[in-house]
Amino acid sequence: MTVGIITGASSGLGKEYFYTLAGEKTVDEIWLIARRVDRLEALAKERPDVKCRLVSLDLIKEEELNRFTEMLKSENPDIRVLINNAGFGLLGDVADLSEKGQADMVRLNCVTLTSICTLALQYMKEGSYIINISSIASFVPTPRMTVYSATKYYVTAFTRSLRYELKKRGINALAVCPGPMDTEFLDVAGISGNSKTFDMLPRCNPKKVAGKSVVKAKKGKGVYTELFFFKLYRVLAKLLPMSLLMNISKT
Ligand SMILES: NC(=O)c1ccc[n+]([C@@H]2O[C@H](COP(=O)([O-])OP(=O)(O)OC[C@H]3O[C@@H](n4cnc5c(N)ncnc54)[C@H](OP(=O)(O)O)[C@@H]3O)[C@@H](O)[C@H]2O)c1
Repeated sequence: MTVGIITGASSGLGKEYFYTLAGEKTVDEIWLIARRVDRLEALAKERPDVKCRLVSLDLIKEEELNRFTEMLKSENPDIRVLINNAGFGLLGDVADLSEKGQADMVRLNCVTLTSICTLALQYMKEGSYIINISSIASFVPTPRMTVYSATKYYVTAFTRSLRYELKKRGINALAVCPGPMDTEFLDVAGISGNSKTFDMLPRCNPKKVAGKSVVKAKKGKGVYTELFFFKLYRVLAKLLPMSLLMNISKT
C-alpha cells in the first residue's frame, strides 16, 4: 500500500497539501495527522474518492509519537510522500514568552520533525520524497520571533543535509520556506494586529506554495521559496551583514 503522510493537515498549508496529493492520486492512501480530528473528518469528507486515514495525535507528546511508531510497525506502509508541516510560532521577546511555550515550539518544529523523518525513512525507497516546512525566518535571525526563527534555521539546515545523505538512496528532501500566509498561524502566534513588519509584507498563497513545492520536490530540488520578493530576501541574506538585516527582519 503506497502512502502519503501529512502532519498538521487540519488547517492552512496542511489542508492545501491534502488537496494537492488528492488531486494527483499518486498514492493509495493519505494519512492526515493533527490534534483536531473533527477538522480532519471534515477534510476527508470533501474528497470521498480518496482513501484517507485520520490520525489524531498531539505531536508534542512523546507517548503519542510512540503510537505513530506502532502504527508504522503494524501497517508496514510504502511511504512515497512525507510532508512535515505541523508547526507553530510565538511572537514576543524570549524573556517575555513562557518557557513551556518556547520548549513546545522546539519540540514540535525540530524534535518531532526529526523523529518523524527518521521513523518514516525506514519505510521509504527510491523515488519517494520528504517536504519539511521551514520559513523565510530561516534566512535571517528574527528578533521577537527568536525561538521560532531558530527552529526554522534547524529545519532548513537539517533538510539540506538530509537531502545530501539521501541522494544515494534516490530519495529527495525539500525545505519549503514560505513568507507570511493568512492562516491560523497568525492568531496562534499572536501576530495578528501586533506586528507592523508582518502587516507590510506580501502574502504567500498556501495553495500555490503546496502545489509548486510538490513539483519542486519531485524534480529533486533542495529549497523552495515562493514570490520574487522573498527569493530576493534569501539572496540578500547571503550577501549582507546579519546585524544590518536584523533591523529589517525584526517582527
Ligand atoms: N502562516 C505563515 O505565515 C507561515 C509562514 C512560514 C512558515 N509557516 C509554517 O507553515 C506550517 C503550517 O502552518 P500554517 O500556516 O498552515 O498554520 P496553521 O493553520 O496554524 O496550521 C498548523 C497545523 O499544525 C498542527 N499542529 C499544531 N500543533 C500540533 C501538535 N501539537 N500536534 C499535531 N499537530 C499540531 C495544527 O493542527 P491541530 O491544531 O489540529 O493539531 C495545524 O493543522 C508551519 O510549520 C509554520 O511554521 C507558516
